[in-house]
Amino acid sequence: MHVEQKKARVVAFGCQMNERDAETILGLLEQIGYGRAADDIGADVVIFVTCCVRENAENRAIGNLGDMKRLKAQKPGMIIGICGCMVQQEHVREMVRNRMPWVDLVFGTHNIHRLPELMARVEAGERVIEVWDEAHEVVEGLPASRAFRHKAFVNITYGCNNFCTYCIVPYVRGRERSRRPDDVLAEVRKLAISGCREVTLLGQNVNSYGRGLPPEDDGGLWGFADLLRAVDTVDGIARIRFTTSHPRDFSDEMIEAVASCSKVCEHFHLPLQAGSDRVLKMMNRGYTSRRYVDLVGRIRQAVPGASITTDIMVGFPGETEADFQATLDIVREARFDAAFTFIYSPREGTRAASMPDQAPEAVKRDRIYRLIELVNATAEGVNESLRGRVVEVMVDGPSERDPSILAGRTRSNKMVHWRPGGQGGALAPGDLAMVRVLEPRTWTLHGEAADVPREAGRVD
Ligand code: 5AD
Ligand code: SF4
Repeated sequence: MHVEQKKARVVAFGCQMNERDAETILGLLEQIGYGRAADDIGADVVIFVTCCVRENAENRAIGNLGDMKRLKAQKPGMIIGICGCMVQQEHVREMVRNRMPWVDLVFGTHNIHRLPELMARVEAGERVIEVWDEAHEVVEGLPASRAFRHKAFVNITYGCNNFCTYCIVPYVRGRERSRRPDDVLAEVRKLAISGCREVTLLGQNVNSYGRGLPPEDDGGLWGFADLLRAVDTVDGIARIRFTTSHPRDFSDEMIEAVASCSKVCEHFHLPLQAGSDRVLKMMNRGYTSRRYVDLVGRIRQAVPGASITTDIMVGFPGETEADFQATLDIVREARFDAAFTFIYSPREGTRAASMPDQAPEAVKRDRIYRLIELVNATAEGVNESLRGRVVEVMVDGPSERDPSILAGRTRSNKMVHWRPGGQGGALAPGDLAMVRVLEPRTWTLHGEAADVPREAGRVD
């Protein structure tokens, strides 16, 4: 008798770390016989990879888990799992345990590799909740079912040691661990052989890569600049990205490495968080606004055409209108290409959650609107300077809204939409194309195929 293959769906919330973890989870499920499901209803197992960085990220996951109750009533054999950052918190586990009986499986950020065993127990009818409070050594050699062929995330560090006072990440992702350079390079080489053209090196703070690595493992001490230079030599890879950088740890040697490695893209995501030195200090960020602006200046000087993006938060406890104005000042001065803006959200167990003077909701809302307005105007101004210019774009594929339009990204990480020209039909994901920018907008550049030879190296 033909037995139909069971199908799995893994849904990630939050950051790229979670997207990458979702690929490992799907890889492990494939290893134990599951195929990929296109949607929830067609799935025999659905796993949510959750984020807890802000309250609304948690609420979205809780909403999705709630919807699964109905689905499971229709399809009782279905397995529902939740993992990731949220369930590293005891109070979340208690909520799932007591109030979400339709959830069959809970595992954390540190024991993903245990999934095959945990699944076997769930398939045998057990309700399994296994979360480790701390990470053990880095686990290598896990399978990954990648979301794309032409581009991939590659972890270089896990966890975080910074303890910014607002941030839950060090509590849910544990202490910082670096992967051995050999392991990182082996993964990049393997990706290149399978057709990958772009890698994004991932860490909470990529600039601290290598701290704590035993020297005997790699014949010397490795830092992030060394790693960039090594990855730059891998044949087949056309572009290298990295995220996230901590402004405190971005050294001149790293700027120099980005400038001199031809595949490393000139895009720097440097979370500012706030422009007031008083607030930065309360956040435990380890830099002043002057030092931040100085870093931006040194990057722009050494790396022509660099794009700089950032994360900014409003409504940190004690933030005054003058503090907020200092943030706006830095946005004007740094001329960010784009910024992700957030309302501060108190996270249980962090230092800032118990600081006095939590800002009222109305003040936070007012500030975020003003910030978004300025950030958008700045981005529009920056993008306007690209009007008429030709940029090198890596093709991602047809645009979601209109399949006759292609979508891709510049080296500076700007999204481009364009109508392919003569040979455009032959362009596949991962190919590089030259595009003339006709209409720059706040978040995307719209253009047409440019009939110019593709120059080696940097264009935009
Ligand atoms: N509230 C709001 N935003 C936060 N971020 C991190 N923690 C919080 C919080 N408690 C933002 C920071 C960080 C980004 C990933 O999320 O700006 O850079
Ligand atoms: Fe969310 Fe942070 Fe976890 Fe990423 S590491 S999923 S941003 S809580």
